[in-house]
Amino acid sequence: MQDASSHPVLATARLVLRRFRIDDVDAIHGCYGDAEAMRFWDRPANATRDETERAVRWAMEPAPAALRVWAVADRATDGCVGMVNYHNASERHRSADIGYIIRRDRQGQGVGREAVSALIGHCIGTMGLHRLQALIHPENAASRRLVERLGFRAEGVLREVQLVSGTRRDAVLYGLLAPEWGAGLDTA
Ligand SMILES: CC(C)(COP(=O)(O)OP(=O)(O)OC[C@H]1O[C@@H](n2cnc3c(N)ncnc32)[C@H](O)[C@@H]1OP(=O)(O)O)[C@@H](O)C(=O)NCCC(=O)NCCS
Repeated sequence: MQDASSHPVLATARLVLRRFRIDDVDAIHGCYGDAEAMRFWDRPANATRDETERAVRWAMEPAPAALRVWAVADRATDGCVGMVNYHNASERHRSADIGYIIRRDRQGQGVGREAVSALIGHCIGTMGLHRLQALIHPENAASRRLVERLGFRAEGVLREVQLVSGTRRDAVLYGLLAPEWGAGLDTA
């Protein structure tokens, strides 16, 4: 069940990771509706605001334990600037996949690193997961750099693992094990 303890607010120096609200639609449409920001995502950008509203409503619903989605908001204004999630979480294997996106006008300012650090801190520190992984398009330099700087290792290329708009895509599998996670990174 999605309760406050399994979907807590995560605060960092500049950000608050919180549940989505319906008034986040326009802000997050700045990500999901932006073909450039979505270039390496595993689905095309949303063509309409309605599609993004459906995604926000879906993220607001109670979710199975394997999935949690946070709006990334500026701590000062509470305005949404992106999204982080974990998915495919397995209690048996104590593992999960992560995903993240930051609005283009807020990229390159350390926001992604700060938000993903908080997500990792929650997954490993609070949930006690042993392994996190991310599937990243080989040409997604920003995402690869982000996870590499946080300690993830490239473990190989998954060939033609994604089908996006009729085109098969490779993805680099990145993994982070709990002992590799540096304690206290950007979570205060
Ligand atoms: C990946 C993403 C979340 C990074 O967010 P961000 O807020 O710009 O990231 P940061 O500013 O924290 O930068 C993280 C690192 O990536 C580097 N970086 C940022 N943009 C880069 C680029 N275009 N090329 C290479 N490196 C880049 C930064 O210099 C930083 O490295 P450093 O710590 O050595 O300085 C953002 O680019 C994004 O939302 N991309 C579109 C969605 C996406 O592809 N998500 C991932 C799907 S797997």
